[in-house]
Amino acid sequence: MEISMQKIREFHRQSIQDREGFWAREARRIHWETPWSKVLDDSRLPFARWFVGGRTNLCYNAVDRWLDTQADQPALIWVSTETDQEIVYTWAELAREVQVAAAMLQSLGVVQGDRVLIYLPMIPQAAFIMLACARLGAIHSVVFGGFAAHNLAQRIDDAQPGVVVSTDAGSRGGRPIAYKPLLDQALSQSVHQPDHVLLVDRGLVPMSLQAGRDLDYATLRARHLDVQVPVVWLESNEPSYILYTSGTTGNPKGVQRDVGGYAVALCASMEYIFGGKPGDTYFSTSDIGWVVGHSYVVYGPLLNGQATVMYEGTPIRPDAAILWRIIETHRVNALFSAPTAIRVLKKHDPALLTRHDLSSLDRIYLAGEPLDELTGQWLSEALNKPVIDNYWQTETGWPILSAQPGVEEVPTRYGSPTFPVYGFDVRVVSEASGLDSGPNEKGVVAIEPPLPPGAMSTIWRNDERFVTTYFESFPGRQTYSTSDWGRVDDDGYWFILGRTDDVINVAGHRLGTREIEESVNTHPAVAESAVVGVADPIKGQQAVGFAVLRDSALLDAPDGRTRLEAEIKKVVEQRNGAVARPSRILFVGSLPKTRSGKVLRRAIVALCEGRDPGDLTAVEDPSALEQIRGVL
Ligand code: PRX
Repeated sequence: MEISMQKIREFHRQSIQDREGFWAREARRIHWETPWSKVLDDSRLPFARWFVGGRTNLCYNAVDRWLDTQADQPALIWVSTETDQEIVYTWAELAREVQVAAAMLQSLGVVQGDRVLIYLPMIPQAAFIMLACARLGAIHSVVFGGFAAHNLAQRIDDAQPGVVVSTDAGSRGGRPIAYKPLLDQALSQSVHQPDHVLLVDRGLVPMSLQAGRDLDYATLRARHLDVQVPVVWLESNEPSYILYTSGTTGNPKGVQRDVGGYAVALCASMEYIFGGKPGDTYFSTSDIGWVVGHSYVVYGPLLNGQATVMYEGTPIRPDAAILWRIIETHRVNALFSAPTAIRVLKKHDPALLTRHDLSSLDRIYLAGEPLDELTGQWLSEALNKPVIDNYWQTETGWPILSAQPGVEEVPTRYGSPTFPVYGFDVRVVSEASGLDSGPNEKGVVAIEPPLPPGAMSTIWRNDERFVTTYFESFPGRQTYSTSDWGRVDDDGYWFILGRTDDVINVAGHRLGTREIEESVNTHPAVAESAVVGVADPIKGQQAVGFAVLRDSALLDAPDGRTRLEAEIKKVVEQRNGAVARPSRILFVGSLPKTRSGKVLRRAIVALCEGRDPGDLTAVEDPSALEQIRGVL
């Protein structure tokens, strides 16, 4: 079959050449209480304002709007293999829980513009509270449950929430993981104190409540049953949420998202990228604490009238067929997961892949980390389904590069997230010249402003950091840098070649090495450290730390090395959570640095991966690299 790819190229061209016309058409997908007066205000780039003057509401569009046509159909399908529970909420039931949650928040004094911090596992209340915030115009900030006290305290101080919503515990592999003690610890470290902490008691572990501050969700819920809370209509550019993400400093950035642009962009992506329509069922395995959980567990599917599966559990418990069983049971049409999950499945009996009826499933989408060719091909052939690699970031909120079967079916290539998505004027820019690179030339993946609807509007309360972090990488050119290397081949297929900065990706989790180093350095025996991401066959990367001790004699004590390594890992786990725990801590006398004191991470990573560390003329002390080679 000859495929022209004319349509997808033309669609993309229109979206860039006539941004206003293109997005004005797409904006009809959602309800506007008041129409906008201008589609795009780009008078103050790199800040872009979409649908200026228009008033709408994410909760109304994601919930209320579907009540007339599909009130009794499934909306939120919650499956927990951790606690052996399954609850299907129809649109009517979802609407009711969201109303109650909004009334509860209101009773705690939450009004438009207030922040609500959500520190919850994959339970329905997380979605209820997010949507309730959206209804009230309150700004939610969801913190990943795998993060620990230090991360949480940083986010509490930056977002300054009036209310924190949490729980007694999450669960992993059938074992409860307490949340409340971590939250209490975070609140003992943070300067800011919320007025109230609302706690979902799952009965998994005992929890102590602080009188006056801590409230029980079920008790408060019972007091607000059947309350109707009116929608607060927000100007399109008001903030809907903050989601913190890691970068090159120890301070995570609060990615701020708008209301109208996000609703339009997600709704359109559900059709063009994910091939969905109202009444379909969508299943993303992401945690609610990451951007995929925001865009494609909660908002995207619901905005397009699609049921969403919210899953608490792992891909291999009770067995490695669980994802496929959920797809069969709930007639899922599209699955969104991460390459790591599939690499884990690859190690199990292939018969488990074909045990279930997957006839409802059209496509599988994988994102969040590089999808290696072998994994993509293995899955696609084993299931006989298209596997689509999509590339994006917390900052963009939705895919930058992806096949777009809702626009046109094009042949995919393993190892490539195919083409730029409409709305994103993506380029590969030469780091040296700041000019666009030619075909097959490696450069930095960049996006010409304005960023499309749905992408970040700014960094929470830090416009200046937004500009300096993202738009000042290339001298003389104000272009958004993704901090990823990329390349485009002769046929226009894109390839992502890893990060340009110190951010690493462990099992699809984006982590800042600087944050982990700061935690390693809090151990009293450590003078300084370097944490790097090293290739891992399953997780993509793993964190490995190199520590210089204040007194190296500590290593001579019996078990000195093992004990210190365990202690340092523990410190990281306590501050940043188990996701950030380095797989190894190795001790060296000094770190390889340039004469200006910059740690040579790329050289360290190369040595760890058994590659040639490259040009080392800049190293101040070559013996430091030899030491690293030695301890490896
Ligand atoms: O380095 C890229 C990698 O993950 C980063 C973004 O992570 P996060 O903000 O957590 O957002 C994930 C949204 C899916 C990117 O800068 N990344 C994401 N998707 C891919 C990828 N690398 C290669 N291929 C991908 N498909």
